[in-house]
Amino acid sequence: MGIQIAPSILNADFANLAAEAAAVSNADWLHVDVMDNHFVPNLTLGLPVVESLAKAVAQPIDCHLMIEDPDRWAPGYVEAGAASVTFHAEACRAPIRTAREIRAKGARAAMALKPASPIEPYEDILAELDMILIMTVEPGFGGQKFLDVCLPKIRRTRELISKHGLDIWIQIDGGVSTETIERCADAGADVFVAGSAVYKADDPNLMVDQLRTLAAGASKLDEGVR
Ligand code: DX5
Ligand code: ZN
Repeated sequence: MGIQIAPSILNADFANLAAEAAAVSNADWLHVDVMDNHFVPNLTLGLPVVESLAKAVAQPIDCHLMIEDPDRWAPGYVEAGAASVTFHAEACRAPIRTAREIRAKGARAAMALKPASPIEPYEDILAELDMILIMTVEPGFGGQKFLDVCLPKIRRTRELISKHGLDIWIQIDGGVSTETIERCADAGADVFVAGSAVYKADDPNLMVDQLRTLAAGASKLDEGVR
């Protein structure tokens, strides 16, 4: 698939979401952060907004569920129109069942890990997933500083995926910018969420292109690492 960029609308103008999505027409995905004020200390939006957005925007919707009980809610986000649904490992009680339900309804299934959560306990269920989201900030807010401490986990995750001969994307979310994206791509990531970097840029579309070019230059995935 190559390098993909998913701008996060958490940092966009919530009163003008359709226009904000149109401002990143070059983007591969629109990243939508669902927060419930329980799993994370912030509250954003839910099913009705995702359903409206999916009809109003051109890009596929990438839903990042930062909520308790994703087992119950994740399939509904596929029905609402999301093309990829990510649940957090720390909140999910039955990741295999939930991933299978997401896939059965026709979306890509992804699992997210907070900065301190290891990938190793999930080695045997990797094949159930289409993407691993490695958080590089504590989830909950945009505009936080990138945590370099997460880089070794990106590398180890790519090694595990390669070891099992799987085709699984690695998404990075948190503090991704022109300063940090190359380190992540070099470590084996291929899908990048960027909120403040994109929406604070004078030209969001140009920033999407710049991020993609930087990541592609630093990525080793075409050299057969994957
Ligand atoms: C944070 C969210 C991110 C956030 C990223 O918990 O999951 O998607 O929007 O924002 P930046 O890119 O500003 O760190
Ligand atoms: Zn996110």
